Amino acid sequence: MIEALSLQERLQGLIKGRVLTEEPLASHTYFRIGGPAEMMVYPADLEDVKTVLKVARDETIPVLILGSGSNMLALDGGVKGLVMNLSQSFLELEVSGEEIRCGAGVRTSRVLALSAMRSLTGLEGLTGVPGTVGGAIKGNAGTSLGAIVDHLDWIRLVDGLGEERVLTRNELGAGYRCTALPAGSVIIEACFTLQRGDLTDIKETISRLLVRRNLTQPVEIRSAGCIFKNPSGDFAGRLVEHAGLKGLRRGGAQISEKHGNFIVNLGGATAAEVLWLIERARAEVMVKAGVALELEIQVVGSPIAG
Ligand code: EPU
Repeated sequence: MIEALSLQERLQGLIKGRVLTEEPLASHTYFRIGGPAEMMVYPADLEDVKTVLKVARDETIPVLILGSGSNMLALDGGVKGLVMNLSQSFLELEVSGEEIRCGAGVRTSRVLALSAMRSLTGLEGLTGVPGTVGGAIKGNAGTSLGAIVDHLDWIRLVDGLGEERVLTRNELGAGYRCTALPAGSVIIEACFTLQRGDLTDIKETISRLLVRRNLTQPVEIRSAGCIFKNPSGDFAGRLVEHAGLKGLRRGGAQISEKHGNFIVNLGGATAAEVLWLIERARAEVMVKAGVALELEIQVVGSPIAG
């Protein structure tokens, strides 16, 4: 247990951004689920990021990096230590020729919209993918049409030792819905190189993907997107449906009736209820199809407070 008040005061004295204590993570995740973050820091700039990481290193305080919380299940007991909230920092976005440079806190939807406006093609696979650029890169977010790292040139990050580093695409260790960034890294900036395309084609692709997504996914209800990674050669949603689990409910949480790889928060769901559904789906899919489903979402925090 860290001494919340004194650390808050000290950190607040050291950085320009805000420092909050006992901040409910339910207010910061798409799922609208999650206990409190012991301390939540909003760095205002790069120096703040470095300072926070240094304090955390010196005092052995765990740090969780939070983007927009779109791919996250925060457990009911909350998160001990520091949560670095990057949803309101590093918001610059600029295009120059076929290159787009942006801060890690920019929403992927804004980057996609800007690229389309400039008739640049490549990022259409991000249509409907929520979240910040930093979070999307870390998890190599995408759809069947491609993932974010495919068109990335380089990223700038601060590593766990506080050093600024530039990594090119090939240095990210990117795979299906994952990267292998240095431990404790905070992505600050990214640069994409796209191709010139036809504005009408780009707009048509984006609208087609949006229509399809709205038809097949429970976009109107709170969730964390797809819960599981697709196993090689199959689809998690199909397997969960085949196991007869669509619509299964536990308290306020439900395996979506629309898409088997989504769990929705019908109102007041707890993380424990979501975890129960996750374990049930894993067990049934293992029994019925012999497939071990792997989580795509990041599960953080403790199940119970204390
Ligand atoms: N399917 C079923 N039952 C279901 C759901 C799907 O049989 O309940 C079948 C569909 O009929 C289709 C196949 O499974 O034949 C694939 O379904 P879908 O096209 O919906 O795509 P997905 O593989 O389930 C992936 C991404 C989504 C992304 C969509 C759209 C993963 C784990 N999921 O879903 O990403 O939006 O493609 O391109 O890669 C996310 O990452 O959070 C996410 C939602």
